[in-house]
Amino acid sequence: MNERCFVMLKPGAMNRRIVGEIIGRLERKGLNLTAVKLMKLSQELAQQHYSEHRKKPFFPGLISYVTSAPVLAMVWEGDNCVALMRKLVGATNPAEASPGTIRGDYCIHTGLNIIHASDSPKNAEREIALFFKPDEIIPWKDEHMNKWI
Ligand code: RTP
Ligand code: MG
Repeated sequence: MNERCFVMLKPGAMNRRIVGEIIGRLERKGLNLTAVKLMKLSQELAQQHYSEHRKKPFFPGLISYVTSAPVLAMVWEGDNCVALMRKLVGATNPAEASPGTIRGDYCIHTGLNIIHASDSPKNAEREIALFFKPDEIIPWKDEHMNKWI
């Protein structure tokens, strides 16, 4: 079933000039990019996005990291998109993320992991609504590709 996932490349991805590589990995999986926006997050939006963590000790550091430079906010779509995306992204702690996953291949420290992906379809919809207006999202179908993935 078609599903949407919110993905955000964090400031580390921008600063290390690996945004294109990461997007390439997600495209090659066969998922569809349906919205993209370069943004400098306000404190308010960052806090809202990560509100489930507001009482955690790492929260101030997380907010400071994600507001330190631009991020690339995206919507991706496809069958089972959230679960597939979480697999491609890998475990939260890069030390536990398998090689071949984005965090496994590009990160060392949990607090500086370079990518966010929604952890459930319900949270995906909440996060998409925080970052995008409905008319900024452009679903599309590639019938040729769909036959081969
Ligand atoms: P994300 O929301 O960014 O996709 O990451 P996640 O679901 O894999 O992990 P989550 O538990 O939601 O944590 C959100 C982000 O907070 C930072 N974090 N730091 N220092 C720490 O112990 C710690 N724990 C989490 C990470 O940047 C993580 O991606
Ligand atoms: Mg999370």
